[in-house]
Amino acid sequence: MTATSFVNPAAKSTCRVLIVGATGFMGQFVAEASLLTGRPTYLLVRPGSVSPSKAKSIKNLQDKGAIILHGLINDKEVMEKILKEHEIDVVISAVGGAKILDQLTLIEAMKTSGTIKRFLPSEFGHDVDRADPVEPGRAMYIDKRRVRRSIEASGIPYTYICCNSIASWPYYDNTHPSEVVPPLDQFQIYGDGTVKAYFVAGTDIGKFTMKTVDDIRTLNKCVHFRPTCNLYNINELASLWEKKIGKTLPRVTVTENDLLAAAAENRIPQSIVASFTHDIFIKGCQINFQIDGPQDVEVSILYPDETFITLDECFNDFLVKVDRKSISTDEITTTSPMAESMAITATCA
Ligand SMILES: NC(=O)c1ccc[n+]([C@@H]2O[C@H](COP(=O)([O-])OP(=O)(O)OC[C@H]3O[C@@H](n4cnc5c(N)ncnc54)[C@H](OP(=O)(O)O)[C@@H]3O)[C@@H](O)[C@H]2O)c1
Repeated sequence: MTATSFVNPAAKSTCRVLIVGATGFMGQFVAEASLLTGRPTYLLVRPGSVSPSKAKSIKNLQDKGAIILHGLINDKEVMEKILKEHEIDVVISAVGGAKILDQLTLIEAMKTSGTIKRFLPSEFGHDVDRADPVEPGRAMYIDKRRVRRSIEASGIPYTYICCNSIASWPYYDNTHPSEVVPPLDQFQIYGDGTVKAYFVAGTDIGKFTMKTVDDIRTLNKCVHFRPTCNLYNINELASLWEKKIGKTLPRVTVTENDLLAAAAENRIPQSIVASFTHDIFIKGCQINFQIDGPQDVEVSILYPDETFITLDECFNDFLVKVDRKSISTDEITTTSPMAESMAITATCA
């Protein structure tokens, strides 16, 4: 059977999935996608009070069929009990950067249970064995590498999701840039603005993550997200947004030294994002290596019939969010593609 003729049995799968971090930024996309596949989906929620917005998102997922369990991944006994009682097959973790090492206890619990068919640790970014950002981003990668080595030593089947950047304007001081609309006053261009990166919509990160969980081809592999339709440099990103809003904005250069200085301030989490921004848009960490190693697979090749949401479409969604009053009507030219662009439904394979 060739890679391209393989039919992913996900739609029929009844494997029971436990998602850790579903109240978080990345975890929500994964939880939504798991529920869409119809798999029994359990969400591990930290005990104690939650903010109204998190309570709302938990209720929303519950209404879609999610089963809520309470616990902490760094509580081995609780995790062993949960994994056993609910006969969990797949564990997906999306804990945040400060909690990466909490997963070491979860790995111990999975080892004891001995029944886990796949573990997806909290990765959802770059290939941490290849990329090497400056501090303080490097410290997070050291933690992620330590988790990888612990999984590999445990013998638990795994998949590492290397989804690259979330589709949005890549602000260098915001951990969740897709929650913010692209600039309306000026663009900050990193270096000469010519280094490319891959941008993937959050819903696609969730969708393709769920495709991998019981796909034999992704067993003990790094799954790279390299949709060619969403490969942009920051100059191109700025032009795309200018077309949407129908006006040009000033461009200010943020130099390599500016980014290094922001990283060196060691403000957490902003400086971590600055170090990643330097790695992506100055060093080219997403594009400066071939994904042809024995551990590498790429989603567009695995699932050639699936389409990606384009960055163009994502920018249309941002446009809807923009307070129209912030763009004065006389600044929008009559040829503004605003209305037209909202109707675009382009997708790419
Ligand atoms: N590619 C990208 O552009 C991108 C962007 C952002 C993040 N990421 C990556 O995505 C992953 C998730 O980051 P995030 O920013 O989405 O995280 P986040 O928003 O901080 O959410 C973390 C989640 O983990 C839960 N959690 C933390 N510690 C826990 C524990 N001990 N037991 C159980 N649950 C626990 C949190 O629960 P509470 O709600 O109770 O706090 C929350 O639901 C990270 O690996 C990060 O590097 C990638």
